[in-house]
Amino acid sequence: MRILVTGGTGYIGSQICVDLLEMGFEVVIVDNLSNSSINIVTKIEKITGKKIDFIHADITNKMELEVVFRSFQIDRVIHLAGVKSVNDSINNPLDYYSENILGTIILLDVMKKYHVNKIIFSSSATVYGIPKEVPIKEEAKLETRNPYGLTKLAIEQLLGALAQSNENLSIVILRYFNPIGAHESGEIGEKPQSIPNNLMPFITQVASGERAYLQVFGDNYNTPDGTGIRDYIHVADLSKGHIKALQYLDNHSGCEIFNLGSGSGYSVFEIIEAFQLENNIILEYEVVGKRDGDVASCVADISKAQQVLEWAPTKTIEEMCRDSWRWQQMSSQENSMKRALEKE
Ligand code: NAD
Ligand code: WQD
Repeated sequence: MRILVTGGTGYIGSQICVDLLEMGFEVVIVDNLSNSSINIVTKIEKITGKKIDFIHADITNKMELEVVFRSFQIDRVIHLAGVKSVNDSINNPLDYYSENILGTIILLDVMKKYHVNKIIFSSSATVYGIPKEVPIKEEAKLETRNPYGLTKLAIEQLLGALAQSNENLSIVILRYFNPIGAHESGEIGEKPQSIPNNLMPFITQVASGERAYLQVFGDNYNTPDGTGIRDYIHVADLSKGHIKALQYLDNHSGCEIFNLGSGSGYSVFEIIEAFQLENNIILEYEVVGKRDGDVASCVADISKAQQVLEWAPTKTIEEMCRDSWRWQQMSSQENSMKRALEKE
């Protein structure tokens, strides 16, 4: 069976491709490399010892996508391609609506033309906005306000309507909470192009000396230590959720939504503490004001994914901190070797 993974050279997509290849699937990646690098293809092949088909294409370009669907017999799609920064989306809403919504519409249109009926879509906990109840269940009220979240919500609504219009379709929407960690080999992980927005990439860059200190955004939230609580999930566990969702697609039609998180909440101070202890590193940090739009606590109720998909996260917060740090070290080493070679 051949799976098309859009955004497959990205942070989460590359982990999924590794798992798919290791499970014996054939994989085609479509990525425009706007937030990833072609080297990832070699890394995926190195980890798995298997070949992968990579097509440099943009999902907003119908002609390019059609070439992919004509060249390969695609059986299922895992759709991760898109842009993902809440802050960036506030400044560039047009890009977000175009890349995320238009890109998905074009992909769905091409899938329809080539009779591909099964898709997994990457959504986000950001659709819940300010949660009324934590842990958050899938049926909680959705009230995101930022353009990024609104694009995810619009796509979710479109997918729901599509499933109602055609009973042959099988759609799974996965709402990711806070993915961190990296592949245990240290070969693939999250590589922010500029100053990281997210907590863990910022922490690892402070640990490596690339940044002087971490800013902790607020310590007077209504949480036990005053800092924000989030549901961090190891990217390897997240990836396994997609494998389970693929199996689910085979036996079900319609559109089903699942939270993917660890089901446990950790505060910013707890993450700093865990990272320091696990990696034997002191992190410099300073508490500053709250970041606009942040909520006090966001933790998933994962019972639906556990029961229906028969999936369960396995990695501890210590493993997440260890794998994130290993990846950062290997990636910094690779960068300095590249710079040295360029100088020669
Ligand atoms: P990422 O940026 O690492 O990966 C996305 C990939 O899509 C990149 O390789 C990028 O080059 C590619 N891409 C972007 N626009 C494209 C286009 N028009 N055509 C083809 N390729 C394109 O991001 P990620 O963290 O791996 O996230 C993957 C998906 O998961 C995204 O849809 C994101 O919104 C969603 N998500 C991520 C998080 C997170 O915290 N990382 C949380 C919730 C949901
Ligand atoms: C986690 C905690 C911050 C950075 C975002 C998106 C969400 C999803 C995941 C895509 C919060 C605190 C952070 C820093 C800090 N992505 N923090 N100093 O905001 O929960 O979710 O990424 O879909 O949509 O909104 O994740 O990692 O940015 O923050 O103190 O430098 O760390 O305030 O409490 P967030 P995060």
